[in-house]
Amino acid sequence: MIEAVILVGGEGTRLRPLTDTRPKPMMSLVDRPFVAHQLDQLRRFGVSDVIFSCGYLPAALEEHFGNGTSIGMRIRYVVDPSPLGTAGAVKNAEHLLEGSQVLVFNGDVLTDLDLSLVAEQHDSSGVAGTLALTPVDDPSRYGLVRLHPDRAVEEFLEKPRAEQLRPGEPFLINAGTYLLEREVLDHIPEGTPCSIERDVFPALAAAGRLAGYPSDSYWRDIGTPDSYLKAHLDVLAGRVRTESPVGESYVAEGARVAPDARVEFGSTIGPGAVVEGGAVVIGSVVGAGARIGRSAKLDGAIVGASVVVGDRATLEHGVVVGDGATIASGVTITGAIIATNADIDQSQ
Ligand code: GDD
Ligand code: MG
Repeated sequence: MIEAVILVGGEGTRLRPLTDTRPKPMMSLVDRPFVAHQLDQLRRFGVSDVIFSCGYLPAALEEHFGNGTSIGMRIRYVVDPSPLGTAGAVKNAEHLLEGSQVLVFNGDVLTDLDLSLVAEQHDSSGVAGTLALTPVDDPSRYGLVRLHPDRAVEEFLEKPRAEQLRPGEPFLINAGTYLLEREVLDHIPEGTPCSIERDVFPALAAAGRLAGYPSDSYWRDIGTPDSYLKAHLDVLAGRVRTESPVGESYVAEGARVAPDARVEFGSTIGPGAVVEGGAVVIGSVVGAGARIGRSAKLDGAIVGASVVVGDRATLEHGVVVGDGATIASGVTITGAIIATNADIDQSQ
């Protein structure tokens, strides 16, 4: 039985201020915490033994998932004493691993990749590690992977600079899902920061021990506000296989939407939230317990938990509102980031 390590220790800086109060994997995606979608995917492939490798705000995960029995899994936790980097965080879980192989997931990737195909290629190729790869237009935010025709990794370049890109080459990037032989962990130092992308993979590639598995499966890193919003639209439209409901929008149990309010185009209304009469919510995410006032308009906005949006206020074009903030009536906010618990009484 294979075990999975999910890396969840990053600070989620690009999703601040929402990640001031919760770690990125606990941000909700439609009807469940983001990382629950990864657990669903693992379970679909018979992986039920998971170790969360935590760092930033570790308690939230354990409070929610406990030891996993309520969802039919075995979940354990390790916590970086100080940030160990992506390889150090895998090493930190080593003492809990029993099998000869380990699956590693970045904790912010939404995909319905068929893990059994990765395992098949890996087992028949005899390499030490196989990385799932996905095509992108711009690899600069990712790990660019160049493959030999036999799928051995020729080169792994984390966050490549423009001058490192070859014109016309297809950009395949590290999709953040790895199947590793246990021996890979022998090359990671203990208790000291180490990056799997910058230190481990380039060395394995140079030794001819790393392979890539390119896939056209749905794939998205939810680490930015824009991408986080798009992930909601994709889940609701059924563009990625998840266990969440598919539909025009999602209104959680215990939320209240007035009969003459409109909630449209892939919006999600969190538990206990209220959308008052005449309000229009388009392609937006409304957090638990938030209140959207009468005739307010949200278009492409992410509103944190317990936010109060005043009557006739407008939030549009990538506004992110931190938990507990208050937006006064009639105010218009376009594309700004509003801090946790802020009191906003002027348009911006
Ligand atoms: N425990 C622990 N400790 N986890 C960490 C640490 C750490 O020090 N640093 C990062 N992580 C976790 C993050 O929480 C995240 O789930 C995962 O490791 C990857 O870190 P990100 O900060 O999200 O990296 P990235 O998005 O810039 O790049 C990574 O993902 C890309 C795909 O989305 C790299 O793996 C790229 O090569 C890859 O293309
Ligand atoms: Mg990321």
